[in-house]
Amino acid sequence: MIKNIGIIGAGHIAEKAATTLAAMDDMNFLAIGSRSLEKAQAFAARFGAERAYGSYQEVFSDPDVDLVYIALPHSCHFEAACDAINAGKPCLVEKSFMMNSTEAASIIALARSKGVFVAEAIWPRYMPVRQIARELIESGIIGTPRMVNATLAYEVSSKERVLRPELGGGALLDLGVYLLNFVRMYIDSPVERLNTSCVISDTGVDATESITMIHSDGTMASVQASAWCQGGNEAVIAGTTGYLVFDDLINPRHIRVCRKRHVVEQEITLPEQITGFEYEFRACRDAIEAGLVEPPQMPHSEILYIMHLMDRLRAEWGYNGKH
Ligand SMILES: NC(=O)c1ccc[n+]([C@@H]2O[C@H](COP(=O)([O-])OP(=O)(O)OC[C@H]3O[C@@H](n4cnc5c(N)ncnc54)[C@H](OP(=O)(O)O)[C@@H]3O)[C@@H](O)[C@H]2O)c1
Repeated sequence: MIKNIGIIGAGHIAEKAATTLAAMDDMNFLAIGSRSLEKAQAFAARFGAERAYGSYQEVFSDPDVDLVYIALPHSCHFEAACDAINAGKPCLVEKSFMMNSTEAASIIALARSKGVFVAEAIWPRYMPVRQIARELIESGIIGTPRMVNATLAYEVSSKERVLRPELGGGALLDLGVYLLNFVRMYIDSPVERLNTSCVISDTGVDATESITMIHSDGTMASVQASAWCQGGNEAVIAGTTGYLVFDDLINPRHIRVCRKRHVVEQEITLPEQITGFEYEFRACRDAIEAGLVEPPQMPHSEILYIMHLMDRLRAEWGYNGKH
């Protein structure tokens, strides 16, 4: 039975994961690993974890930990995932999975060779909204999808891990990854051509970017990400007879179905949730219990598809993703 979670890194998103786990009856936040034992102890006391470790390796070596959740800056994902997998520990790695597709392919190959589960914590892939929106599209309610427009912008430019290139900073790995996944979740045909441009910050990371993807079925997706401003963060999928509006790209509370300009024909309220993170933990549990090395909601092939797309974008910007 998969129940006991070990969190790696006592940072911002680890707090949200710990809050989520504390509210779940079917999961237990067992252990926290931090570079500092004092920090781990304070985090464990705050969120009710039984065990606090002053290193990540001690969590990987704890036989009672069923799954580790790696919540580190992007540049640290590779080493932590390697260590976890080499210790035989199933792991859920925060987005973006790795710095580039080379690292991603290497981690996936390692996990598969050892028969150890590894997944990316790109939470919209696991949430009910995905199935609900796909069913709406498949019902024909907006006709044939032809265009996607979305933005994702947060003013996070003062965060160390976002502004420093050596930590895997920039808008693409932090925010753009959600936009690419959004498009990929609802438009099945592959990206054929892309046009993109970006603004590089003083510190040398991609601050704001615009990405236009033309898919093989003729669908066009135009998305913008920025780590330098607060955006509306809506998404629209436009079809031949109507459009869907998601009130939030990552974690929508409502989807509006519009068949004529500004006329809302239907409004779907998404199910109540803890934070939305509970779905990825349960998906990992179910996959591991079924003997899988990847969750069906986000298979390794999809991780690699998105990582390759991000490599392509950075190549266009003259920026190789290796920092
Ligand atoms: N799913 C989401 O909604 C969401 C939202 C935000 C971020 N994220 C993802 O979560 C991951 C972590 O982001 P975050 O915002 O939680 O980062 P953060 O607050 O900066 O925390 C990262 C933690 O990593 C550890 N760490 C190890 N080496 C480090 C280094 N060289 N510099 C700084 N920290 C280091 C630190 O923990 P210790 O000192 O305890 O070892 C630190 O607290 C990223 O992959 C990010 O994209 C996901």
